Amino acid sequence: MDMTTLAQIGYLVSAILFVFGLKRLGSPATARGGNQLASLAMLVAIVSTIVEYGILDWRTVALGMVVGGLIGAVLARTVKMTAMPELVGLFNGMGGGASAVVATAEFYSLLGGSGVMPEGAMSVDVGLTIFLATLIGSVTFSGSFVAFGKLNGMVPGRPLTFPLQKTVSGLLFLGLIGIIGWQLSGAATSAPYLAVTGIALLLGILLVVPIGGADMPVVISLLNSYSGLAASAAGFVIGNPILIIAGALVGASGLILTNLMCKAMNRSLANVAFGAFGTDSTAAKKLAAGERPVRDVDAEQAALVLAYAQSVIVVPGYGLAVAQSQHELRKVADLLGERGVDVRYAIHPVAGRMPGHMNVLLAEADVPYDRLFDLDEINGEFASTDVVLIVGANDVVNPAARDPESVIAGMPILDVDRARQVIVMKRSLSPGFAGIDNDLFYMDKTMMFFGDAKASMSDLVREVREA
Ligand code: TAP
Repeated sequence: MDMTTLAQIGYLVSAILFVFGLKRLGSPATARGGNQLASLAMLVAIVSTIVEYGILDWRTVALGMVVGGLIGAVLARTVKMTAMPELVGLFNGMGGGASAVVATAEFYSLLGGSGVMPEGAMSVDVGLTIFLATLIGSVTFSGSFVAFGKLNGMVPGRPLTFPLQKTVSGLLFLGLIGIIGWQLSGAATSAPYLAVTGIALLLGILLVVPIGGADMPVVISLLNSYSGLAASAAGFVIGNPILIIAGALVGASGLILTNLMCKAMNRSLANVAFGAFGTDSTAAKKLAAGERPVRDVDAEQAALVLAYAQSVIVVPGYGLAVAQSQHELRKVADLLGERGVDVRYAIHPVAGRMPGHMNVLLAEADVPYDRLFDLDEINGEFASTDVVLIVGANDVVNPAARDPESVIAGMPILDVDRARQVIVMKRSLSPGFAGIDNDLFYMDKTMMFFGDAKASMSDLVREVREA
């Protein structure tokens, strides 16, 4: 069997492993295995590429894999869960950049050493794929770095706008098309190519700076999809089937995820891109006046309510991630379980700040998967539930979503206000991501248990034990 056939078989195996890996990522119970399958697929793809092209000494590639693998392993071990979106943003940027570099290398190999493009060296179809990979890859590269900067505070999180911003972006885009046409119609220099790269990098920045930091997870998911498209285009450039397939899978799954996130927030992608959401602090200021009375409880009172309930539904939110109180929460749930209380967890699709945020946190604390229920599965159960324990969640339980005038109007929420009693653990009456007040806090059935969720949950463990 010759090397090309061997490599083609390797690509096929790799593609199958990628598809099964993705499928397994669909459930928390199988996600770890899915990740391992996808890693194996990547290894098979790299080895097959080395076998097929034979252009690089395998020792160079192995060294690259060891260094890259080590950096990846250290990052995966040390990154905080709340910093995961920015790490993914960084990875996307690297992916987009790598695709642009592949396309650039191909462009310069056509150009030859003379610096003058020989007539007919670049056909229109090859040229188009090179430009597509460069364009999408460069936009992804610079856009992802701005998103990364916004999340870790290096770039101001507020939307940065200037007059005629959209017009400028539109004109730059039109200019890009013109310059690409110039190169494809036979320009002998590399100037148009360099101009396209520069403008695409600028466009990536201009597209992301006007979006508020809080919306970055959606932007990162979209850029993830772009990085896949760029990789796919790069696959066409160098005629590598697995790059085309893997890129298409990333492109499609990134788009599906972006769509799911927008749906769960009941917002359109255009609203995310141009809406400057969650940045209005007027609501927060109004709240600071704190004029509406609430009923607050301490750990002992909360423990008694929980310990004597028959059924409890826990609603985790962003505050659980900030406080990292998932292990204490698990202890409380175990203690309640030992007393015969039926404890379940309600998972809202956009609770926290990244897809699957709550699943990951609860998995860290070894909460059994069969205790986790999606919004659709559990919403009908609240009316027959004794106590709902909300840990650092706010928008995802805000009944304002039922008010057509609200900024979160139409967002699917967990119907916790239908339960008999509600305990809310958070530090204050401050709003969450959407920046709006929550009527749930002021209801007669609601008990506010103020404090950092970690400290409060530790107190709750002690009190439930003694109850
Ligand atoms: P939020 O509505 O953001 O509320 C989180 C609450 O946690 C805050 O009100 C805060 O109140 C509390 N908190 C923060 N630190 C805490 C701590 N150490 N201890 C206790 N409480 C703490 O969170 P949510 O209900 O999870 O909703 C998520 C929001 O993010 C939604 O609006 C969603 O649309 C948006 N979003 C989600 C995603 C994804 S993919 N998950 C992506 C983009 C946007 P205090 O300050 O009073 O403590």
